[in-house]
Amino acid sequence: MNTAVRSEPELEAHHAEIIRATLPLVGAQVDEITKVFYRTLFGDHPELIRDLFNRGNQAQGSQQRALAASIATFATYLVDPDLPHPAAMLARIGHKHASLGVTAEQYQVVHDNLFTAIVEVLGADVVTEPVAAAWDRVYWLMADALIDLEKQLYVAAGVEPGDVFRDVTVVARADDPSGVAVFTVESADPCAPLPSFIPGQYISVGVHLPDGARQLRQYSLVNAPGDGTLSFAVKRIDAIGGCPAGEVSSWLHHDVRPGDALQVTLPFGDLVIDTDVATPLVLISAGVGATPMIGILEHLAANTPDRHTVVLHADRSPQTHPLRERLLELGTRLRSATLELWYQETTEGAHLGLIDLSQVDLPADADIHVCGGTEFLHSVRTQLHAAGVPEERVHIEQFTPTDWRLDACPV
Ligand SMILES: Cc1cc2nc3c(=O)[nH]c(=O)nc-3n(C[C@H](O)[C@H](O)[C@H](O)COP(=O)(O)OP(=O)(O)OC[C@H]3O[C@@H](n4cnc5c(N)ncnc54)[C@H](O)[C@@H]3O)c2cc1C
Ligand code: HEM
Repeated sequence: MNTAVRSEPELEAHHAEIIRATLPLVGAQVDEITKVFYRTLFGDHPELIRDLFNRGNQAQGSQQRALAASIATFATYLVDPDLPHPAAMLARIGHKHASLGVTAEQYQVVHDNLFTAIVEVLGADVVTEPVAAAWDRVYWLMADALIDLEKQLYVAAGVEPGDVFRDVTVVARADDPSGVAVFTVESADPCAPLPSFIPGQYISVGVHLPDGARQLRQYSLVNAPGDGTLSFAVKRIDAIGGCPAGEVSSWLHHDVRPGDALQVTLPFGDLVIDTDVATPLVLISAGVGATPMIGILEHLAANTPDRHTVVLHADRSPQTHPLRERLLELGTRLRSATLELWYQETTEGAHLGLIDLSQVDLPADADIHVCGGTEFLHSVRTQLHAAGVPEERVHIEQFTPTDWRLDACPV
């Protein structure tokens, strides 16, 4: 998929001056601004929180932080173009938007509610006409970069903007001993088969919950592309402490069986492997972060079983390790792969404790893919940095919205 973030025009000098002067103030209040923004947006458009936005992320505040961080990062880049271009951030957001069917027209709605929130939080005396005009320019530079990228993604997928939802039938369900359920779906319309995908991509799965909401969640694809089916593995999130059970994962586990109908979106996601080269791969995962790696390994086993691959996975125990048997089986089919496991209980053939990259020979020219929880990602990035691995070789998939302010300085 040949899509790229095009470099956007520079911010005009008079706007840049105002942005530089007001960035500290906006930065300090940006969390409050995004909170007010979502409150007004969902007040005016209740269908957006019911059917499009992830209300689990809203409850936890993670989407508010991700939005605030992305705008602050982009504005900082515009006034200091010596900083690295935030292309990875824009690509992550653009692919997520495309996987939810976001369209160009919706950017005006977001704009209007965002600027109402900015005035409400900072006050009309601070948000004078020139200040509003400068931030308006920042918003549209970022929005236009995203709109352009999303347009490219829709064109590459061969669909009209936003036309990414497909009705599918569940053709198989397999319950893994770890508690993860693997669902395989095919198109409900035999005349319109599901498209292929690139290993490492994900789909959004839409489910209609008992209160009438249509909630969407992303799931990495775990099958090899090409046979018209899509398989995804879902970890059930149980209620723990004061936190409720996960809405969509629980619903999928309890309610979905072969023959049932579901709605999924076309595959998107930019943290994919390059299938055209023979560069070594290092796949590092923990917990349910195993899923994109399984999809990648399925592809390698089916197409390039001699590609040099180092697979590293950490988990609490073999019992909690998602798709462990599948991983071991794939390991036997990959002729140039090594597999190292870390468990927190003594297990034959595995390391004891947390992942330790100093115990592993990492091929110098490898592309490294990492997926897991926030602490794990932090630890792995720190270790890769200490090992002198260049940042551009490291590709990180995160299952929660990314706080780019944290992401910018992970080590
Ligand atoms: C690119 C990508 C790929 C992914 N791939 C996979 C995959 O392959 N497999 C997989 O299992 N998952 C994957 N995920 C994660 C998945 O999309 C969902 O986030 C996950 O299944 C949880 O969804 P849920 O609806 O069950 O939980 P939600 O209802 O969204 O809840 C999420 C968390 O928020 C907490 N929460 C909700 N409401 C509140 C509240 N009021 N107060 C406090 N806490 C609250 C819940 O307790 C839970 O811990 C992926 C995510 C992304 C972005
Ligand atoms: C310039 C404008 C915008 C910016 C800066 C922006 C930024 C972001 C960011 C940072 C994320 C999180 C990505 C991640 O998973 O890490 C996100 C997700 C999302 N965005 Fe946008 N966005 C913009 C416009 C829009 C518009 C117009 C819509 C449509 C109404 C939209 C709907 C969504 C949805 C539904 C999600 C997923 C939310 C979730 O899963 O919690 N965004 N956006």
